Amino acid sequence: MDLQNKVAVVTGGASGLGRAAAQALVEGGATVVIFDMNSEAGALAVSELGADKAHFIKLDVSNGADAETAFAKIVDDLGSVDICVNCAGIAAGSKTINREGEPHDLDLYRKVVEVNLIGTFNISRCAAAAMARNTANEKSEKGVIINTASIAAFDGQMGQCAYSATKGGIVGMTLPMARDLASQGIRVNSIAPGVMATPLMLGMPQNVQDGIVANIPFPKRMGEPSEFGQLVVQIAENSYLNGETIRLDGGVRMQPR
Ligand SMILES: NC(=O)c1ccc[n+]([C@@H]2O[C@H](COP(=O)([O-])OP(=O)(O)OC[C@H]3O[C@@H](n4cnc5c(N)ncnc54)[C@H](O)[C@@H]3O)[C@@H](O)[C@H]2O)c1
Repeated sequence: MDLQNKVAVVTGGASGLGRAAAQALVEGGATVVIFDMNSEAGALAVSELGADKAHFIKLDVSNGADAETAFAKIVDDLGSVDICVNCAGIAAGSKTINREGEPHDLDLYRKVVEVNLIGTFNISRCAAAAMARNTANEKSEKGVIINTASIAAFDGQMGQCAYSATKGGIVGMTLPMARDLASQGIRVNSIAPGVMATPLMLGMPQNVQDGIVANIPFPKRMGEPSEFGQLVVQIAENSYLNGETIRLDGGVRMQPR
């Protein structure tokens, strides 16, 4: 799908990988609507991307009614939704039982599932409904959905039970969603990033960062958010990519801790 004059929703677009995806999509010619909880960072992103090319809606991705309202407003205001990139996510490190032998906080587990897994599905279902109303292009395409999983879906570390379960859920629903939406000309793919240089990772102590990077075969560094943005654009543009989860990780396989 050509990005020129397309409308792309990017959740979590106020920061990190979502912000980089928004940048790459705007550079490719799309108009972007950022969904995020962080109004201040959302407003800053819009001013940096250009108010004619970017919009912000404050929204919790796990809220069904708010998502439906937001998509209806975008279709009214901008005419369509053609691309949807799900980047909003939270990480919560906690072992199944802690040092004192107490069980994992169940509310914390539920919260991670709500935002990462249900949030991704919530936005995707609304995006798909909006895309299904588009007129197909010359390649019979009506839309593209790109989810953000993680390599923790495959090699989750200690303390990542909740996070890995949600990311595994995103990998698991990629193919059935692509199959559900095939008759509508809507493709669905996921990206499983490795260790990316976002504020989250760069906020860790230097020795922790060095330890993480030491395990990455090549290139021996964290991934750049712009490299994530590059892959988002490639998935959107390449009409034959469908139902797949792509690792973007410099070949790393995470150790247990
Ligand atoms: N950074 C990495 O190394 C890495 C690796 C693998 C996967 N990921 C995944 O990539 C995605 C983006 O990560 P990041 O590093 O850019 O994080 P980030 O914290 O920089 O950005 C996440 C954004 O999501 C927003 N957000 C959080 N909860 C929300 C909610 N309920 N509704 C709407 N917005 C919400 C935040 O406000 C923030 O702007 C996440 O899903 C994360 O799990 C990141």
